[in-house]
Amino acid sequence: MDIASRPSEPAENPKTADAAPPPHAPQVIRREDYQPPAWLVPEILLDFRLGLESTNVTARLSVRRNPDGNGSATLRLNGDQISPLAVRVDGAAVNDWRLDGPDLLLPLSGESHQVEIETHVNPASNSQLMGLYASHGMLCTQCEAEGFRRITFFPDRPDVLSTYRVRMSGDKTAFPVLLSNGNCESQGEGEGGTHWAEWHDPWPKPSYLFALVAGDLIANHDTFTTRSGRTVDLNIWVRKGDEERTQHAMESLKASMKWDEEAFGREYDLDLFNIVAVSDFNMGAMENKGLNVFNTRYVLADPETATDADYDAIEGVIGHEYFHNWSGNRVTCRDWFQLSLKEGFTVLRDQMFSADMGSSAVKRIEDVRILRSAQYPEDSGPLAHSIRPDSYQEISNFYTATIYNKGAEVIRMMRTMAGPERFRAGTDLYFERHDGEAATCEDFVKAIEDGAELDLGQFRLWYSQAGTPQVAVDLEHSGDRVVLKLAQVVPPTPGQPEKQPVPVPLKLALFDRETGQHRGEELVILDKPEQTFTFEGYPRAPVLSINRGFSAPVAIAFERPAQDLVFLAAHDDDPFARYEAMQSLVVQHLIAAVGGSLGEGARAVERDAIGQAFKAILADDSLDDLMRGELLILPAEGYLAEQFLVADPTAIHAEREALKAWLGSKLKDSFAELHDRVSAVSYSRDAAARGARKLKTQALVYLAAGAPADAKRRAIEQYRQADNMTDRQGALMVLAGLEGPERREALADYHGRYSGNALVIDKWFSLQAGSLHPDVLTHVQALAEHPDFTMANPNRVRALYMALAMNAKAFHAPSGEGYRMIGELIRQLDPINPQTAARFVPSLGRWRRIEPRRAAMMRGELERIAAEPSLSRDVLEQVTKSLG
Ligand code: PHE
Ligand code: ZN
Repeated sequence: MDIASRPSEPAENPKTADAAPPPHAPQVIRREDYQPPAWLVPEILLDFRLGLESTNVTARLSVRRNPDGNGSATLRLNGDQISPLAVRVDGAAVNDWRLDGPDLLLPLSGESHQVEIETHVNPASNSQLMGLYASHGMLCTQCEAEGFRRITFFPDRPDVLSTYRVRMSGDKTAFPVLLSNGNCESQGEGEGGTHWAEWHDPWPKPSYLFALVAGDLIANHDTFTTRSGRTVDLNIWVRKGDEERTQHAMESLKASMKWDEEAFGREYDLDLFNIVAVSDFNMGAMENKGLNVFNTRYVLADPETATDADYDAIEGVIGHEYFHNWSGNRVTCRDWFQLSLKEGFTVLRDQMFSADMGSSAVKRIEDVRILRSAQYPEDSGPLAHSIRPDSYQEISNFYTATIYNKGAEVIRMMRTMAGPERFRAGTDLYFERHDGEAATCEDFVKAIEDGAELDLGQFRLWYSQAGTPQVAVDLEHSGDRVVLKLAQVVPPTPGQPEKQPVPVPLKLALFDRETGQHRGEELVILDKPEQTFTFEGYPRAPVLSINRGFSAPVAIAFERPAQDLVFLAAHDDDPFARYEAMQSLVVQHLIAAVGGSLGEGARAVERDAIGQAFKAILADDSLDDLMRGELLILPAEGYLAEQFLVADPTAIHAEREALKAWLGSKLKDSFAELHDRVSAVSYSRDAAARGARKLKTQALVYLAAGAPADAKRRAIEQYRQADNMTDRQGALMVLAGLEGPERREALADYHGRYSGNALVIDKWFSLQAGSLHPDVLTHVQALAEHPDFTMANPNRVRALYMALAMNAKAFHAPSGEGYRMIGELIRQLDPINPQTAARFVPSLGRWRRIEPRRAAMMRGELERIAAEPSLSRDVLEQVTKSLG
């Protein structure tokens, strides 16, 4: 085919005079400016002549004027750091095109044309890991959101859907495996030790879902039979030697395929599904049609090298990417403002999947913990945005906990209000209406509204308003009547000074204090600034359990006696509410302690109440160990900091550690007994054994705080005896926080044992940067010089520096050294990998919510970053907004 013809001389370009925009004048993209594309590209043919340092790309686009477009005779093709080597229209070379910044503008006279463009890229020098890049001798692509334009010129926007035919050729030894989307239709030998393959994807898709992989890979192969009886070939491709660690991923994939058929009626739609694991990857994984590309950390697992949490994360991410095949690929997004259309919905789907695969109670608690520690701070900081933002400068900055996790919570509320059956009718209608389309969040809401018969008029505010609603609760009792008073405020956020009340669905139950029973759960919807709900027939004042199952992503303010919380922590039949009661008990106490309003007498009383609640949980035979483990987790420092207008991170850390130490010493016999009991459980992947391992390390953590000598002995023993990574890492984490030669010995042993296993070495970096040891900053400084450290690998960078940024004590060290290290990292990483660099800015960006002395230092670091002469758009946007 002539698309494979050799690259011609670079075409003469008469009009490159347009000056590129000045680097410090960021362009703001606005949702309200959306215009349908002027031209459509129903088909594209791509031809790659692959080489690690030099790949030539010929793209042949059939373009057609969009009847719904603005009628422009100019075709705009986006580009980024590429230049056209040749441009042909209907087979003839043309030179009347021009560049507009990075884009190529091509005047076209007719209704439809064939446009052919040649480009050249150097994958080996692509350190941003966007577009076509090299990783350990293999070639792979990442196109979401705007990476395709780094490969060829194209209308790189999600509302342009094309069917793709991809031909690639390359050296047979370097790239024995050649993959792209869809099905492989033909392959063969070429000249000079090369071979080629031709792939065809029958499903029209936007460019961000294109993928290509070429390398020396080996597959774990299996099959899945769909409910309509089609057999699908499944492959998980990894580097040689890693294939033994792909079984859990494969099982997760098959379980996902089955689950989506049952839970959402969604069947897979190709005969082949490929997953490729890549060790250099900016994010978790990518849902490219029929060819998912994964960060190795979400594929590879065996008991020796992966923790139970790793196993769970793999199951969740495999599910997530698979579920995108319908929520994202079959129905995609009209523009990037609609990102939550696919991400929020798909997170909800993966959460439901994981809940069905394991303990739904524990899964719900984990999901809420992530929301509170990652999304609430976003919502209350300078980068707050609604789940459907109105503007952005760099879309990569909007792959956030708000779009993903709050987006999932918003859809979950619709499900709670509609009930599971009606919600399913709504999603069925959504898929039916919009299959093959690029849709909007509004389309989704409308489909749920129609299919589930739900009025979502006011509910749409959840899509447009940022900020976590604050709900104040008051309960009055007189005679046999209970009056529940609720009031809501949605706090102001940047660009949104005034907010309207939103519908807040709250599940609640009223418990009789004596019988420990309630009369059934009720759902109330608070949709005004203030509202009162009355309940009759309660001669005794009941105990209120509210926001059960975390039915709404709001912050509840409810001052109540510790005894009520102790009661709920022991009796609530909603597992989330039980956890929540425990959390509130501790949060109330720590807020008072940090705020300095707690006298010694009150402190003792409150600690006692917490100690009693812990004891009850440790002794409760009705609890499984996984759930018991949840109930024993103290609220995260980040979540505690959220409770203050201006937080003192050191004080929060100190009080939280002091409580931990008090519990560890007060309950040391119980924790020691617990550690003995669970240490006797042998390794398996079942829930009981996983629960035992979770408690094993938790017991150690409390003992390390309250009885360090005993803890050290136990941790050394646990480390030595470990036949799995969960136990080994748990023990090492505790040892890494303690002083003494054992610390150094264990760290050295671990490094020696797992050198060569990048994912485990990542853990080795993380453990040290995240530890409670007083010298963490010195350790991190040294680790940055360690031969295993590299700025080129995002997993490694995150392992060291994200762990530091999350380590409140070290990051907020009074010297400001933690801030300086993160600031310097951002400046050094930005030219290499701006997307990853920008992810570190929010930690410094929270300065307004930190006490003034530290706030000034954090701000100072942001200013130093802002003063860099050529910042990426990614970092520039985050830094400007954080300073603004
Ligand atoms: N779309 C991917 C996901 O949610 C995330 C991603 C975004 C990956 C951008 C790479 C680049 O699953
Ligand atoms: Zn996703």
